Amino acid sequence: MSTDSDLAGRTGPAAPAVRRLAERYGSPLYVYDLDRVRTALADLRAALPQPSRVYYSLKANPHPALVAELRRGGARAEVTSRGELAAALQAGHPAAELMYSGPGKVRAELDEAITAGMRTFSAESFGDLERIGAAAHAQGVTADCVLRINAAGAPGQAGLRMTGAPSQFGFDLDDLTEHRARLLTEGTRIVGMHFFPLTNARDEDGLCAELAQSVRTAARLRTELGIPLHLLDLGGGFAAPYATPGERPVYRGLRAALTAVLDEHLPGWRDGEPVVAFESGRYLVGDSGQLVATVTDVKHSRGSVYAVLDSGINHLGGLAGLGRLLPLSARPLDPADPGDDHPETHGPPDGAPADGARPATVTLAGPLCTPADILARAAELPGLRPGDLLAFPNVGAYGLSASLLGFLGHPAPAEIVVDGHEVVSATRLALGRHDAEPLTAPRTEESAAMTDTTAAVPATDASAPPWDKAYEELLLELLPRLASQGPLRPDSSLKAAGLDSLAMVETLVRVEQTYGIAVPDSELVADTFATPAALWRVVSALRDGSVGPA
Ligand SMILES: Cc1ncc(COP(=O)(O)O)c(C=O)c1O
Repeated sequence: MSTDSDLAGRTGPAAPAVRRLAERYGSPLYVYDLDRVRTALADLRAALPQPSRVYYSLKANPHPALVAELRRGGARAEVTSRGELAAALQAGHPAAELMYSGPGKVRAELDEAITAGMRTFSAESFGDLERIGAAAHAQGVTADCVLRINAAGAPGQAGLRMTGAPSQFGFDLDDLTEHRARLLTEGTRIVGMHFFPLTNARDEDGLCAELAQSVRTAARLRTELGIPLHLLDLGGGFAAPYATPGERPVYRGLRAALTAVLDEHLPGWRDGEPVVAFESGRYLVGDSGQLVATVTDVKHSRGSVYAVLDSGINHLGGLAGLGRLLPLSARPLDPADPGDDHPETHGPPDGAPADGARPATVTLAGPLCTPADILARAAELPGLRPGDLLAFPNVGAYGLSASLLGFLGHPAPAEIVVDGHEVVSATRLALGRHDAEPLTAPRTEESAAMTDTTAAVPATDASAPPWDKAYEELLLELLPRLASQGPLRPDSSLKAAGLDSLAMVETLVRVEQTYGIAVPDSELVADTFATPAALWRVVSALRDGSVGPA
């Protein structure tokens, strides 16, 4: 396709080139850089014990050009839906090399996967295992299953924990011990185990401890319960910045540490018994993408400045699925960039003061008719004017496909993929309406029992001033740097302890789950998350009922 001399380099396309793409394809638009995807895969491989297999988790971004690039680099694919299966096949993955995982798989998708030639599945529960077996048996084949294990993690880790507590993910160890006869399920062969205890682990020591713990658990389950172990999928949890500036972590010690643990507990691993595998989404594609949006209106409301953009949580919902917004971080595509040959789209409007360079505190709002459509609060940006372009960095993972695309029916942004100087793909997702065909056969299996996922609310001691034990443990777990300062101090800076936008969401979700509260949007400001005392004030006020919904 077309070429552009600025589309080059490890740092991704330069701002003038991105501006030209916005002019050519319209705003808003996503720009992905394949060079960054290749670099990320090489970095991950360098950090992992060898030999090992890498699965790319399509949930991070199923864009066919990214999936195909990772396949060319030798990564396999982990899929969790019919859509992701189709994207992986379209990208050229052989079905037999794919891994199908995720809770609540239904018969129709299992039938489709097996018909396509898939044979490797991660089973999340006995019910899931039985459904996989029934689908395979019906087609006269055997499904190779790894059992996803819900084990307690290593102590004191950071990141969003997905197992080790009541969960829809994986087999509880007690359950496995008690009912292991149910593993002999027609149509299945147990070939190993799958762990994915946490995601986005920012601290390398914590990540090593977590993965090492999974190796030890797998070795123990093989010995004690006789569970076969030909494939050990250790998951991942490899971190990447999200919608804020920054670099992927470099894991310098992981390879040696994990190699030693594998040698000790699973000595056959170097000869492929078991094959050791890892999964990653955000680390592989997170820093490859940026979203460019245009300021359409700037207004002052009761002392606050709002810049309204042509893109909001419909295109960068991020973790809007969690019901909460991220304080994202945008940077202007500086009109003073060398090579900017279209300054007329960025100069002050007629009669406006030329104070564009002066920073101002501004709320970045999207175009949706909901007060929830806020991309950033209290952002410090040079005075914005209609027509200015903003870029949100590091949104190659959990960007467009994790957003509220259908809400209000704005067109999807163009998605431009560049490789060096070349635009290799320019597409736009479209939501279409198609006739719904009646089902040909009744689907009975979907109501079968699943693992009990009732969430337990941890016991708390609300009387202990200034906060209770659960709160302290939660903060120390999510922000291990706080622990290095001794007992939790009310005035410690949470930002200095590593509370970036993603950790903020994780913290929010955890306090809401722990205390059964919903923090209103009005409290989702930087001050709330400034110190342990500030956050606790909001939590305790909500528990008392003295702060109401937004
Ligand atoms: C089973 C499994 N694999 C892979 C991933 C991808 O995680 P990440 O994008 O953080 O690498 C997830 C994320 O939740 C997951 O649940």
